[in-house]
Formats: sequence, C-alpha cells, structure tokens
Amino acid sequence: MERKAFIFDLDGVIVDTAKYHYLAWKELAEKLGFDFTVEQNELLKGVSRIRSLEILLDIGKVHLDEDTKTKLLTEKNEQYLKYIAKMDQEEILPGIKNVLHYLKSNQIPFALGSASKNARLILERLDLINLFDAIVDGNDVSIAKPDPEVFLIAAQKLGVIPEACIVVEDAQAGIQAANRAGMTSLGIGDKTVLKESNFVLHDTSELTIDYISQLMD
Ligand code: BG6
Ligand code: MG
Repeated sequence: MERKAFIFDLDGVIVDTAKYHYLAWKELAEKLGFDFTVEQNELLKGVSRIRSLEILLDIGKVHLDEDTKTKLLTEKNEQYLKYIAKMDQEEILPGIKNVLHYLKSNQIPFALGSASKNARLILERLDLINLFDAIVDGNDVSIAKPDPEVFLIAAQKLGVIPEACIVVEDAQAGIQAANRAGMTSLGIGDKTVLKESNFVLHDTSELTIDYISQLMD
C-alpha cells in the first residue's frame, strides 16, 4: 500500500477557534457600523488575516486607508488572543485527540496546514504541538489558501507526494487548496458549503478510527 499522510487544518478542525475568529470580526464590523452574519463568515474561513479584513470591508462597503487597516488588523488579533487566552483542552474538537494518537501510534505521518499566524501558540496551549511531524502556518507561506502552497510545503516536509496526502479542512478555501494540490480533501461541516470536497463529514465526531482507516485503503 502507498504510504499515506494526513494534513490537518487548525481552526475549526482541531480546535473550536472558528467561533472566536467570527466573534472578533463581528465586533469589528459592528464598530464600523454594519452587521456580519454567520453565513458571510464562511467566506473568511481558511483565508489569511489580511484577506479576511478585505472581504469584511467589501461586505460592509467600507473604504479605509492602509494605516487604518493595519490598526484594525492589530485590534482584531488582540481581541482574538483574549479569547484564546481562556481556551483549554476542552475545546479540542470531538474525536481529534483520538485520531492524532491513533495516527501517531501507527507511524502514519501528519502535519498541520493552517493559515493562522497564531497556530503554534494555540497548539502549545492545547499541548498538541509535539504530536505533529511538521507544522506549516501563516508565517511560512507567501500565498494564502485557496492557493495550494501551504499543503504542498507540508507534504514536502513530511517527505510524501501530494497524491498521498489526505487534507482535513472546514473551509471552502481550504478544500480548494487541497484539490489544487492534487490531494484527497475531507471536508468537515455543511456539505452544501463544502461541495467541492472529495468526502464530507458533518463534524469531527464522525472522524472515527474506522473512517480514517477506510480512507487510507
Ligand atoms: C485560518 C482561519 O485558520 O486562519 C481564518 O480559518 C483566519 O479565519 C486565518 O483568518 C488567519 O488566522 P490568524 O490567527 O493569523 O489571524
Ligand atoms: Mg479552518
């Protein structure tokens, strides 16, 4: 059997931080005078911090100069970090720890492939960082998802070909990135939103050891 490897997104796959990103952006939108819905938030999932702000400002039809944008990006991140500071292992999504330990004990390599510049901080806080064979985050890439760069670097670091990788993602942009990288994409979330995925599960509790084993067959 061909040697398989996994690449996990962080926010919304390993840990329930997607809701904190949403809350921090929503607070910013309200300060700028417009509403920001859960549905609109789907467009921000998986994309970089700067691109998220641009999408948000487009939604609110707000035009700002570069200095103000930089200030708002810092504000949003500070607000987000306040939420993160209160986070503990309880917020690791259902089934994830099991799966990571299963892969580890079966010597199946796995990496993190995240757009977040806070990824290492979060993995450390959750005491998961040492499990990963490679970490690629928002500090390591030059082009954000849906570009495949983040996943291609992860595959390279794991020493496997892209076709051997299974990417677990909750964002449209992430699924597109995985598909463009020539990898197998497994979406976690709403199948109408993640319709481009090769496979979709409603949430991580469905990501069982049995399911993982079947995916590798
Ligand atoms: C992704 C999230 O994982 O990271 C996005 O899905 C977020 O919502 C992006 O914008 C960047 O995260 P950070 O932590 O660098 O602001
Ligand atoms: Mg995500």
